[in-house]
Amino acid sequence: MRILKGGGNPLEWRSAREVGEAALRAGQVAAFTVAGGQGTRLGYDGPKGTYPVTPIRQKTLFQVFAEKIAAAQKRYGTVIPWYIMTSHANHAATVAAFEDNGYFGLQASDVFFFMQGRMPAVDLSGKIILEAPDAIAMSPDGHGGSLRALVRSGAVADMRTRGIRAISYFQVDNPLVRCIDPAFIGFHFKNRSDMSSKMIPKAYPAEKVGHFCMQNDRMVVIEYSDMPMAMQELTTADGELLYLAGSIAIHMLNIDFVDRLGSGKDATFALPFHRADKKIKTIDADGKPVVPSSPNGIKFEMFVFDALPFASNPIVIETRREDDFSPVKNATGLDSPETCRNDQIRQWTRWLRAAGVQIETDSTGLPSFIFEVSPLFADSEESFVSRWQALEPKPENFSGLYLG
Ligand code: UTP
Repeated sequence: MRILKGGGNPLEWRSAREVGEAALRAGQVAAFTVAGGQGTRLGYDGPKGTYPVTPIRQKTLFQVFAEKIAAAQKRYGTVIPWYIMTSHANHAATVAAFEDNGYFGLQASDVFFFMQGRMPAVDLSGKIILEAPDAIAMSPDGHGGSLRALVRSGAVADMRTRGIRAISYFQVDNPLVRCIDPAFIGFHFKNRSDMSSKMIPKAYPAEKVGHFCMQNDRMVVIEYSDMPMAMQELTTADGELLYLAGSIAIHMLNIDFVDRLGSGKDATFALPFHRADKKIKTIDADGKPVVPSSPNGIKFEMFVFDALPFASNPIVIETRREDDFSPVKNATGLDSPETCRNDQIRQWTRWLRAAGVQIETDSTGLPSFIFEVSPLFADSEESFVSRWQALEPKPENFSGLYLG
């Protein structure tokens, strides 16, 4: 394992970026979003990707990603096909959201939807739960189910016909993610890695992210729920958290690796199932629907990071939280639509400042007004500064401003 931490060597970053850009220009990289989750904590009725997240235009998560992909396609003069994993519950609504919105400006033929697998749910004594007198309660098999689903759906075969070599994997709930990040792509290719990951230093010991660890010389991610709090609080002699490297579910995956793991051809490989105790709708002895008020059963999910121990040359690079990670998980509080909206505004405010604009903010970098920058205007500080310099006339009032 190599952790390139604390910024690393600028020359190494520059050369990684060049390698990534060359792979993009050669059309070797696809985008991949896992969007089959149930989004229970957000409590939104619809596919999470159709949830509006931007402050002014109320763009949905899917639109934000589509615009980021479109911006990268334009910059590198290439096609970046986008694969989206749905579930039985949200597939039709997801496809309809793209059709109703003209694929958010992308070519329909470059967007590929497929459904993930399902697992039966069992009650707390291990018996299969019925959802209806003639139907078993089934639930999506976790984001780790993507490896099988990518192969089974024909997505990997489609990628091969297009000359794709690696997949940029990200979750549907994080609009800040640089879905196409040339330096990350370049590190992945340069290190001949099967699976690469981004990490952020944990903000505090109890932060709910997985931990990159080495176990018997293999890289693993240990979920926060599987690591005792006393271990999460351990520090090094310098006072830094010992288990510092938090996983933010951003990966690069080689398609040969996905093919080997997802096809079942490699008999030594199987992702484990993790159990999650949940409220599962069922029926009573008379066949009448029952909506439980507390967890009554167990769902089984695979996690994509459990593929890491099977990967050759896995690498982890450190990224800046404020440039890559602000997920919408909960309806209120931490990781909510409000924190995510503020993190987007803070990022655009940093870009404006980098372009030489004076903006007053509070101590967290948040101005007192809202504004929005489309990824089609700029998708990084660097691209923002150059667009801003060329912009005439420059806006004087930022409140309510939309740069598109
Ligand atoms: P989460 O762990 O946040 O789960 O998923 P969730 O189902 O979306 O939300 P809750 O826990 O019910 O509130 C992380 C990412 O993995 C995807 C989600 O869509 C999200 O992008 N995912 C999760 C799947 O694609 N399939 C799954 O079976 C589970």
